[in-house]
Amino acid sequence: MGGKTGSRDEVIIVGGGIVGCSIAWHLSCRGRKSRILERQEPGGLATHAAAGILGPMNETDRPGPFLELMRRSLSLYPDFVARLEEETGLSPDFAQSGILAVAPRPGDRAALRARFDWQSALDPSLVFCDASEARILEPALTGSLDSAIYYPDEGHVFAPRLIKALLGSLARRRIPLEQGVTVTRIVPSGHGTLLVHDREGGCREAEKVVLAAGALLSDIEIPGTRIPVSPVSGQILAVRSPGSFYRRVVFYPPHGYFVPKLDGTVVIGATEESIGTRSRVTPAGLLEFLSPLSSLAPELLDLPLHHVWSGLRPKSPDALPVLGPHPECPELLVAGGHYRNGILLAPVTGEIMADWIEGGTPAHSLPFLPDRFLKAGKE
Ligand code: GLY
Repeated sequence: MGGKTGSRDEVIIVGGGIVGCSIAWHLSCRGRKSRILERQEPGGLATHAAAGILGPMNETDRPGPFLELMRRSLSLYPDFVARLEEETGLSPDFAQSGILAVAPRPGDRAALRARFDWQSALDPSLVFCDASEARILEPALTGSLDSAIYYPDEGHVFAPRLIKALLGSLARRRIPLEQGVTVTRIVPSGHGTLLVHDREGGCREAEKVVLAAGALLSDIEIPGTRIPVSPVSGQILAVRSPGSFYRRVVFYPPHGYFVPKLDGTVVIGATEESIGTRSRVTPAGLLEFLSPLSSLAPELLDLPLHHVWSGLRPKSPDALPVLGPHPECPELLVAGGHYRNGILLAPVTGEIMADWIEGGTPAHSLPFLPDRFLKAGKE
């Protein structure tokens, strides 16, 4: 039973976003071939919508395995992008330009200071800045400001360019990526392999299948309990800055951020909306993260609007990634639930999934195994 291709793949990866592509790339670096099946455009659900922030410390409020996973992935970034750039000549605009988390008012300072206290114990390079020090680091902060934490090693990447470079590298490595294939069902073949059925009537066979279908991962029927991942929409926009005045990613309360890109755009985001798979931009959504800027960084609101868009983040019930073999079907691996950090976590996810496929048990993935949801369901 070879389906459309008449052959059997070692690994089929369902989903051609940044996560699926990174897994294929890491497998290829270890001499292993895979095939990617993609519904529409690679990266169309979340990757192309992402602000590309590489900032572990602002994505969790506690130390622990999730923070360590993000920090490990950040440490893999310089080599990951250097290799892609070398192979393809395409630059993903990776910048370790530093991130600021700001307290606009004196009343915000205590919470920021508490965050600094536990985080600087893990990373002594962090700096607690007063307003004037923060303004030197980021000149857009001309409005009301009390203090900031500076994370010198964090930064950003241009996610659409990153996936373009990954796709270029995969093409050079002759890793097949089939577009227009909507996987609906994965079933055991009866002789140790899996059959991957698609809506178009095709069927392909593989020794292992990796589910990396982002916000649509739970739509696919699998041999075993489905992994619960749901879409969380994010609205976001970009303005054009005439010169490169702005330098650092800034996180501001309650949930806003801006990201000065190397091409002179400043990306500002983002909403979090659980509204199913609808993708749209609303004035109310944009106001949510633009309003606080009128007192914090008002100049940004006078820059020409370049683009508005939205994307779908994939969120698991505990908002943590889901990484590893499905306990009811070990040939099926899950790489999902990356939520707000798919771009940041792409390299470590590629590494982890390649380890599992090669028969390893990567220790840093154990807190994120899919079985935590199955156990919860049985209790
Ligand atoms: N990583 C930021 C966001 O998801 O909005």
